[in-house]
Amino acid sequence: MIEAFIFDLDGVITDTAYYHYLAWKKLGEKIGIEIDEEFNESLKGISRIESLERMLKFGDKENQFTQEERIQLATEKNEHYKELIKRITPKDILPGIIDLLEEAKNNKIKIGLASASKNAIPVLNSLGVIGYFDFIADASECKNSKPAPDIFLMAAKGLNVNPKYCIGFEDASAGVDAINSARMYSIGIGDRDTLCKAKFVVKSTEELDFNLIISKYNKSEKEYSL
Ligand code: BG6
Ligand code: MG
Repeated sequence: MIEAFIFDLDGVITDTAYYHYLAWKKLGEKIGIEIDEEFNESLKGISRIESLERMLKFGDKENQFTQEERIQLATEKNEHYKELIKRITPKDILPGIIDLLEEAKNNKIKIGLASASKNAIPVLNSLGVIGYFDFIADASECKNSKPAPDIFLMAAKGLNVNPKYCIGFEDASAGVDAINSARMYSIGIGDRDTLCKAKFVVKSTEELDFNLIISKYNKSEKEYSL
């Protein structure tokens, strides 16, 4: 029996994935690294400092900055990102998400957040959805970032549920890997090829139908226990 829904934030509850992209792009322009949306795909779900490392590698500049300069660059990206998220309002909640949260509540399914973002709480507040969450895993307390399962396991622990009775929702390939490694049922939102390791993939949040999700989960649980 399903006990909890555990959500990623950026790109699942709201389209902040795009703001992260804009902020990295701007930083890239400053240090002479041009990124596009395709490269950005590989940054989804990845922590701030690891994203910077990947960008420097992508631009062949991994030996050009000291540790201190890297922290400064990551901070600069975050300052720009914080400016961008100031414009977030409840209108920015992706379609279908509120219905899903409501259905979960009505069916006594716990709701958790497993985001790599240290800006998760202000974003949830601006969206006006923080009240739905029974537990928000703290990314700054998480040792291994996605694709490691840690943040999803932290959320399950905080909700006091067994991972096997959880469904995780993700838009990033690294996030789907994290859910699978946590031994939860994974739902990918986005491109079928990118998210091919998810147990079930929908193109957009609009397709997140509560009854369909539960029946997919129940079916897979039955197959698993055979
Ligand atoms: C993830 C995003 O949710 O959070 C990544 O998908 C981002 O793109 C990561 O780098 C960390 O976010 P923040 O807000 O702590 O820099
Ligand atoms: Mg995401």
